[in-house]
Amino acid sequence: MDPMQVPEEPHEVLFGRRVAEGKRDMINEISLKKRKFIGNTSMDPQLSLLMANQALVRDGDLVFDPFVGSGSLLVAAAKFGAYVFGADIDYMIVHGKSKPTRVNQKVREQDESIYANLKQYGCEKLFVDVLIADFSRSIWSDNIVLDSIITDPPYGIREATERIEFKNYRKTTVMTEDAVHYPSTSPYKLCQMYKDLLQFSARHLKLGGRLVCWFPVLKKDYNANILPRHKCLQLIANSEQPLSGYSCRRLLTYEKIPGNVDDEDGFEMPSAVVENYRQRYYTELAVDNGTRKERRLAMREVIRKAAMERGKQQQPDGKWRFPKEQPDA
Ligand SMILES: C[S@@+](CC[C@H](N)C(=O)[O-])C[C@H]1O[C@@H](n2cnc3c(N)ncnc32)[C@H](O)[C@@H]1O
Repeated sequence: MDPMQVPEEPHEVLFGRRVAEGKRDMINEISLKKRKFIGNTSMDPQLSLLMANQALVRDGDLVFDPFVGSGSLLVAAAKFGAYVFGADIDYMIVHGKSKPTRVNQKVREQDESIYANLKQYGCEKLFVDVLIADFSRSIWSDNIVLDSIITDPPYGIREATERIEFKNYRKTTVMTEDAVHYPSTSPYKLCQMYKDLLQFSARHLKLGGRLVCWFPVLKKDYNANILPRHKCLQLIANSEQPLSGYSCRRLLTYEKIPGNVDDEDGFEMPSAVVENYRQRYYTELAVDNGTRKERRLAMREVIRKAAMERGKQQQPDGKWRFPKEQPDA
């Protein structure tokens, strides 16, 4: 129709039903630039909101992030009206005590926290709590039922994949200069981490509840068969975010379906591809040559490996030192 020749009477009158309203302005509203508290791996707002969308989060839901970090995913879920809580192994990040992330900031402000972020966006009433917990050792009551789990597990590239050392395997107990006791940690293998995540989700999601999580993979390794599976979780969406020429992560959305959650064989994933993901990532990086930032990361990895080979251990302040041997308590 010619927009300059609009007829006086309409040819047809059509009625529609409004099913949704775009909320793109929310991306700006929760921008990391203006957010009170951010960490090195804070998820960007667009992806956080997308994850909450995939999880079909709605008013009054209960949403959990077991690898909560600086809580970006809780912000997105709370913006959709959910009550939110999270856990993380790292006390320093959860309580806003880690090194500041912003280039110009020397020290963190006293009141930087996940709660402060929710308050900034008017969602503080939806904050349940965040706690320090190692996901590899479940602390949760069997009765807890969740509407959704939204999470970005660590892949060991920009943050460590670690778990608290089991007593039987304990090497040494580390006593730092400030005389605070930190239990030693050991690597948390990706295969085990996704097994824990899917089993936890199968056990604690309500029927129809969703798990939305990222899964790292080298592009050349990818085919749908390498994705983690569980008999009680149906994979309903799987999309790629490229990270570099050779690596990507997949955004996976699972829905809880009926079944025996205690089924020992409920979980399946070929471990070979993910088990040495970190090592293969850096090998590929060296071959690919990467960007300046990627080469710097690769170099840091070489230094880290050399320090480990010399018997150094990474301390809670992030520096590599020889451990001070302490007699076990
Ligand atoms: C990719 S970051 C999550 C970032 C978060 N989505 C945010 O927006 O800040 C992964 C987090 O997993 C935590 N983590 C590593 N190993 C863990 C474990 N065994 N149990 C619980 N959290 C762990 C790390 O401390 C880190 O904060």
